[in-house]
Amino acid sequence: MLAAISVAEEILELKQRRKAILLAHHYQDSEIQDLADVIGDSLELARKAREFAGEVIAFCGVWFMAETAKVVNPDRVVVVPDRDAGCSLVDGCPVEPVRAFRREHPDHVVVSYINTSIEVKAESDILCTSRNAVKVVNSIPAERPVLFLPDRNLANYVKRQTGRENMTIWQGACIVHATFPARRVLEAKLEHPKAKVVAHPECPESVLALADFVGSTSAIIEWCAASDAAEFIVMTESGVNHSLTRLAPGKQFYYVANENCNCSECPYMKLNTLEKLRDCLLTLEPRVELPEDLMRRARLPLERMLALN
Ligand code: 13P
Ligand code: SF4
Repeated sequence: MLAAISVAEEILELKQRRKAILLAHHYQDSEIQDLADVIGDSLELARKAREFAGEVIAFCGVWFMAETAKVVNPDRVVVVPDRDAGCSLVDGCPVEPVRAFRREHPDHVVVSYINTSIEVKAESDILCTSRNAVKVVNSIPAERPVLFLPDRNLANYVKRQTGRENMTIWQGACIVHATFPARRVLEAKLEHPKAKVVAHPECPESVLALADFVGSTSAIIEWCAASDAAEFIVMTESGVNHSLTRLAPGKQFYYVANENCNCSECPYMKLNTLEKLRDCLLTLEPRVELPEDLMRRARLPLERMLALN
């Protein structure tokens, strides 16, 4: 009798058959990250998607990341396990008010965080991610006013780092990071007095003020792995634990619950499952399909960002 094959084995077999690459964000479940060809932050995954020469990109992350992959590599089929894997930052930044702002403030340079819809990207002058936001804003001539959207915490962090005054800030927020209370970080520090605090810049200023290091998901992982410290309070989504424990074995990582779910998980990221990943490789749905003109307009600010690094 033939032994039943596991979902993971089915995925690996389908991946070969489809000439697919599995790209996974750090916030995916461990079982997905275990199968991925590349695990990364949003910038690294966009770069990997751009250079992929196979046929199918199975993007295990959220929808805006998969749209980005399609824009940089439009000849590939891009699929996502769950179409509802969205993002509160995308939801908080509809395109119409952005267009209205542009009409009323034609002198402003629109800097959009990559956590935006394809329509908003198409209205932007340059994109950024949490890894390169300071660099992107510093690349804009000092006399040009900037609209930074949509994450207010990242924007304020960039403002503090660059000392830039002429920056208008959109009032969007991430439901995971913006609801981490500083009070709970202080409690964690009391419990683990030797631990270093590392934080994603989507956290509130009061949390970032307590951090020894602020950076993107991959930058946090790299910093903890290179640090002499043995304990860390990690102020981002707990999916990073997968790479942290692999790249920094023997070190201790503590996670703080936010006030949204009393956890540190992104509900959108966690919609993707192994079964849905298998199914999307099988059916090639849900698939990212975007109008050519929209992709062309979104590509320009995206390529400007990629050229900066
Ligand atoms: P990174 O670019 O740091 O991976 O962040 C993406 C994200 O959605 C953070 O919440
Ligand atoms: Fe969006 Fe926040 Fe989830 Fe990142 S963690 S995908 S910013 S909702």
